[in-house]
Amino acid sequence: MAATVTTDGPKPVLDKPLMRYGRRTLERLAPGAETPQYRILGISPLTPHIGAEISGVDLSRPIGEELAAELRQALLEWKVVFFRGQAGLQPCHHLDLAAVWGPPEANPFFPEAGTAGVSRLAKDAMAIGNENIWHSDHSFMAAPALGSVLRSVEVPSAGGDTMWADMGAAYDNLSEKMKARIENLAAVHDWVPSWGSTMTGEQIADFRTSLPPVEHPVVVRHPRNGRRLLYVNEPFTTRIVGLSDTESRELLDELVLQARVPEFQVRFHWEQDSVAIWDNIATQHYAISDYFPRRRVMERIAVAGVPLS
Ligand code: SIN
Repeated sequence: MAATVTTDGPKPVLDKPLMRYGRRTLERLAPGAETPQYRILGISPLTPHIGAEISGVDLSRPIGEELAAELRQALLEWKVVFFRGQAGLQPCHHLDLAAVWGPPEANPFFPEAGTAGVSRLAKDAMAIGNENIWHSDHSFMAAPALGSVLRSVEVPSAGGDTMWADMGAAYDNLSEKMKARIENLAAVHDWVPSWGSTMTGEQIADFRTSLPPVEHPVVVRHPRNGRRLLYVNEPFTTRIVGLSDTESRELLDELVLQARVPEFQVRFHWEQDSVAIWDNIATQHYAISDYFPRRRVMERIAVAGVPLS
């Protein structure tokens, strides 16, 4: 491989500075944070820094304050947590679980599952999954969802996994030059190029009144632990404020590649009655659409967010 090797850290490949091999910086905790202790939850990490399976909890039982505090702590530590065998979980329990983090926030583009706040994502031969692009839910809103709680209702016998990428690692592994370049930049997020692609002009104009384009910093601070996170994603981030069209496109094309680095990711294989809860600011996710024409049905509740800084 014709690469110039100048340090023992991540090495640039050819002329693409973000495509590097070698050592990665992978921090599970925010700088200065202490390793949390758990009394109720059993934690089985799926990677050293993102994703853990949790045992010892039946999510259809009432969630007391001690359990709620441990769940919040586990999500902050692992960024996405998984539960299996939650057959008793009904929409009312699903809502109670999401309420551990805050009130539900409806997705304006997903149909409701019959319960307010619960979206149904049903994919089959007629409706193929289109969440197979790295994204953060609702980044096109002024206060993007803090998290999402997804449960599997019907899963294909093989395939249909979901992946998450740690956007703290995505930021940490940028070059110092890139970090300095993006530190004070903001980006526009807009649902029209993705969700709007199948709508009529009239429908777009209708939605536009309540969902205009919004701006967020390119590097946000996590609302709970202050950690720096790269906050641009492929479907919803449309341009970088203050740059020419070409500069903006080139910079975004480079930054969105970070979510694709395997060491920043975790992959989860769904079984019937699995649940995933993710920190939607600290991660992006990608629903693998490899099960066509088989059916996959999920129910999701997004947790209302706060403006990002
Ligand atoms: C989503 O993008 O929220 C859906 C994830 C999934 O269906 O796995």
